[in-house]
Amino acid sequence: MPRTFLLRRLLPSALLFLALPVGAVGIDFLLHAAGAGWIGEWAGPLGSALLVVSFAYSLRKRRLIRAGNPAALLRVHEVLSWTAALLLVVHGGVHFNAWIPWLGILALLVVTASGLAGRHLLADARRALAAAQAELRAQSFTESEIGERLISLALLTGAMQRWRRVHMPVTAVFAGLALVHVVATILLW
Ligand code: HEM
Repeated sequence: MPRTFLLRRLLPSALLFLALPVGAVGIDFLLHAAGAGWIGEWAGPLGSALLVVSFAYSLRKRRLIRAGNPAALLRVHEVLSWTAALLLVVHGGVHFNAWIPWLGILALLVVTASGLAGRHLLADARRALAAAQAELRAQSFTESEIGERLISLALLTGAMQRWRRVHMPVTAVFAGLALVHVVATILLW
């Protein structure tokens, strides 16, 4: 395995992924030690809200909203959804209470791992489009328009299409399990 692949790609992604369970256990420990375990309960709604905001990228991509540069919104999706995953693992992944929320956390971890891998695939696809980028610049498109077109083209590559077959369905599984958990919590309140 080439050294640059290990250092520039695998290691940062693996560390970001490992930070989720390790960080969640640490945060949970500190909260309980400070007698503030209740904050973990609010980490659930807060994480879910961040996740919903992170999907502004999807709305922009489908032109349901016009504001925002798609490349910047994708970055926002990556950062917010990682933060949301950390909060949701603090909320539901440290102490076992029921199977449905735990399976939801498992799906969330799978989709986050796939997201961390997808980032690199997309970066590769965008690099491969350097010629198209130069051509768009020569045609005097704005940087925002160029970013939008390059993302659309990069998403069409075979690797990204195959990657979406994991990221999208597992997101649906996570959303279904999260919904069951939220409805059950409200009904049992
Ligand atoms: C570190 C975490 C994550 C990274 C780096 C990441 C990365 C990405 C990337 C690169 C895309 C663009 C691909 C495309 O538009 O087809 C994307 C799209 C998407 N991501 Fe993530 N993702 C992460 C976490 C999550 C999480 C936690 C969820 C849901 C629970 C999620 C759900 C989605 C969905 C549904 C799309 C498709 C957007 C659309 O086509 O409308 N992602 N993600």
